[in-house]
Amino acid sequence: MTENSTMWDEICKNTFQTWDITTFRNNGPNNRLVTYNPKSHGVLFLKTILWQCVRSMNNHERSLLGKIKNRAFGRPISIKYDENMEVDLDYILCIKELCFLEEYLTKICSVIEIGGGYGRTAHGMLSLFPNIKTYYIIDLQPVLMLAKQFLEHVLPKSLLKKIFFIPVQSFNPLNIQADLCININSMQEMPKCVVKEYLLFIDKQCKYFYSNNTIGKFLPSMGGFEEVLSSEKAIQSGILKKYLNIFSDKERQLAQKEFLEAFKPSTRWTCLKHAECVPWPHYYQALYENHIK
Ligand SMILES: C[S@@+](CC[C@H](N)C(=O)[O-])C[C@H]1O[C@@H](n2cnc3c(N)ncnc32)[C@H](O)[C@@H]1O
Repeated sequence: MTENSTMWDEICKNTFQTWDITTFRNNGPNNRLVTYNPKSHGVLFLKTILWQCVRSMNNHERSLLGKIKNRAFGRPISIKYDENMEVDLDYILCIKELCFLEEYLTKICSVIEIGGGYGRTAHGMLSLFPNIKTYYIIDLQPVLMLAKQFLEHVLPKSLLKKIFFIPVQSFNPLNIQADLCININSMQEMPKCVVKEYLLFIDKQCKYFYSNNTIGKFLPSMGGFEEVLSSEKAIQSGILKKYLNIFSDKERQLAQKEFLEAFKPSTRWTCLKHAECVPWPHYYQALYENHIK
């Protein structure tokens, strides 16, 4: 064993000449020994999360995922789990959300989505639940344009015609109602007064409300990212603004309780079910029912 490997000759020359023994495991030579550098290997970390998520899906979830066509449109970062299954995080989340709601989604006719993003949820819901006849998306005009274009590409005309795109500026809460209102990953990014207005609208005009949002705030340093202007704004937005250690079960459980109260539109509503969200520790989901409707 006198001969060194040429690979390690190179590594020793480049990485093991100097180090600080007090920090070498944080973005230092240990990135060549045990833990990949998440800054350079972020895609590998993401793909590993995708792989873990798909592996833990049951057959029903996998079969629903397979029924949503054109999921690769827009070229997301994805993995090829097997010959028939290419998956990305957006649609893994979509399937998890739809399975959480499934027993109610088979019974309803209309949905209002507040802050629909590019339209992954509308795509999934309309592909899997033909009983849904009307789907309203309320969003900011530029994002709504993206959603319209995306959904025109991925949905057949027969499903596309069920969707009504409503810019926030023209949204009149008195004019629309629906069986289910959903809000995913967005009320935490709106000013508190806007969230309160939406909750008032939901209270008056909807039978069910699904919220899937963050349970509080965390410091940018916890996620390893730089503090920028948008993180300052994110910290000020929403209705749950307490800081927490999102990796502490104790702190999360307390924050989850606050979440359940905060998103209940009024005392006329009860929570039918609630659960943690995969894979993010700082999100929670709940479905509420309005007893007056
Ligand atoms: C982080 S994205 C989440 C998108 C989508 N729900 C998803 O999970 O794929 C937040 C969404 O909220 C929308 N949004 C922000 N302010 C809003 C407002 N006042 N009313 C409606 N939507 C809003 C954004 O345009 C964006 O579509």
